[in-house]
Amino acid sequence: AVPLSVTTLAAMKTRGERIVCLTCYDASFAHLLDAAGVDVLLVGDSLGMVLQGHRTTIPVTIEHMVYHTACVNRGRSQALVIADLPFLACATPERAVDNAARLMQEGGAQVVKLEGGAALLDTVRRLTEQGVPVCAHLGLQPQSVHRLGGYRFQGRDHAAAETIRHDALAMQDAGASMLVLECVPAALATEISLTLSIPVIGIGAGAGCDGQVLVLHDLLGLNAGRPPSFSRDFLRGHDSIAAAIAAYVAAVREGSFPAANETPY
Ligand code: KIV
Ligand code: NA
Repeated sequence: AVPLSVTTLAAMKTRGERIVCLTCYDASFAHLLDAAGVDVLLVGDSLGMVLQGHRTTIPVTIEHMVYHTACVNRGRSQALVIADLPFLACATPERAVDNAARLMQEGGAQVVKLEGGAALLDTVRRLTEQGVPVCAHLGLQPQSVHRLGGYRFQGRDHAAAETIRHDALAMQDAGASMLVLECVPAALATEISLTLSIPVIGIGAGAGCDGQVLVLHDLLGLNAGRPPSFSRDFLRGHDSIAAAIAAYVAAVREGSFPAANETPY
């Protein structure tokens, strides 16, 4: 069968089929997730936290991202591979183009994801013009944790919601092929999903998005501290990792994940 692309994901949105995404950092999990029918493998810079043991994603370098993207790419056959541009990799449009080239040429990514709003519109245009599919990322942007003062829900007051709504449309207009919304109120995420023509993937953003993403380790109940309020331990009640992944895929497809008690705002 033909591997998935941003075009197939857009067609899924049109048909009302929910898109299943998970983070993935190595070839063994890429093989397992791909076989379980996960549509998108996101090589997230969350690897800085769940693999490297850092408290933030800030220490992650483009070298780390290229390495893990290449590992994931070797393990998949059908799934779309999205790779994160790490901290300051988009400080200028030129740097973003160079770093996207590395993720695609050395890593084998099909899409690159970048965190940020209005300031990145030129970069998104540049990448798109050069044939690089872009996934935007709004709401909670973990690379900005030191500016934000912590990992907090975003877009909870009128002005902040308005900025996210506006940036989402601007990202689509600039050429973004997808959008991740992290930790925003469900009503806002649902409204943006209905407004945009590109697929909107939520995490901590309620069940009204076009698809869902979780950090693989959260799904498997592997968190050192307490799990995020919006995640679910899918290994509970299942006797293998494969069964847990299958349960996640089914729950996203049917819209039963996230449930109301996994939707904080
Ligand atoms: O790095 C990551 O895992 C992410 C997702 C949580 C969207 O960016
Ligand atoms: Na990320």
